[in-house]
Amino acid sequence: MSKTVLVIGASRGIGKELVHQFAAKDLETFGFARNLQNGSDNKVHSIHLDLLSPTIKSDFEKAISEIDQIDYLIHNAGFIAVKPFLELTREDIHNCYQVNVLSVMEITQICIPKMKSGSHIVMISSIGGFQGSSKFPGLAAYSTSKAALVSLTELLAEEFKNSGISINCLCLGAVQTEMMEEAFPGYKAPHQPAEIAEFIVDFTMNNGKYFHGKIIPVSVSNP
Ligand SMILES: NC(=O)c1ccc[n+]([C@@H]2O[C@H](COP(=O)([O-])OP(=O)(O)OC[C@H]3O[C@@H](n4cnc5c(N)ncnc54)[C@H](OP(=O)(O)O)[C@@H]3O)[C@@H](O)[C@H]2O)c1
Repeated sequence: MSKTVLVIGASRGIGKELVHQFAAKDLETFGFARNLQNGSDNKVHSIHLDLLSPTIKSDFEKAISEIDQIDYLIHNAGFIAVKPFLELTREDIHNCYQVNVLSVMEITQICIPKMKSGSHIVMISSIGGFQGSSKFPGLAAYSTSKAALVSLTELLAEEFKNSGISINCLCLGAVQTEMMEEAFPGYKAPHQPAEIAEFIVDFTMNNGKYFHGKIIPVSVSNP
């Protein structure tokens, strides 16, 4: 039986490549986002989901009610606000935390009961949320939310250490996506989405047995 993977945040950038590459490996692939183009990859099940919805937990529960077993869960969705700290609005801060942390917690609560020993949860954080990395002005809401994802990984790894489910976090450096272009216009990142997706797919499928509760910087630079 083919394995099942859920990619949260699958409409563009790294997530779009992830669903494409997982499906090419014959995994039963489900991609979630707001702006999915149906038919762009017939092997991917595209499911509309808004992580900012106040009913996100029940929306997601309904969306995956027919899925009995989840082998891989990739928390790839991200929201960024780039503004001087004193100008950040409550909405900017809320949206960063809702998409990057709170929805991750609620979605994971729904998924874990459907995951068996040998499955793997991968959090996609940022090098900006990695302790001791260079920090940049304007990213207080985004990078603190990504740091929370790092901490969440360590806490879940401890809580589920006897389940056989591996839980790890990849802190990505710069990748040339729409998000990167919005955050740092004109910056040329060292990696394309397809390259980094290839690494994430391999890490997810082949490395769960070697890593658990690990926070891994995947970066050759710091934007
Ligand atoms: N690119 C980089 O240099 C870089 C560096 C470090 C970390 N990362 C992390 O890597 C991940 C992917 O980044 P990316 O550059 O590929 O970003 P991106 O191009 O902006 O894509 C973000 C994805 O998240 C989804 N998303 C955002 N808000 C959502 C919402 N409310 N509901 C549902 N889905 C939502 C988007 O879908 P819709 O808008 O269609 O809903 C999209 O599919 C993110 O977690 C990001 O923080 C990226």
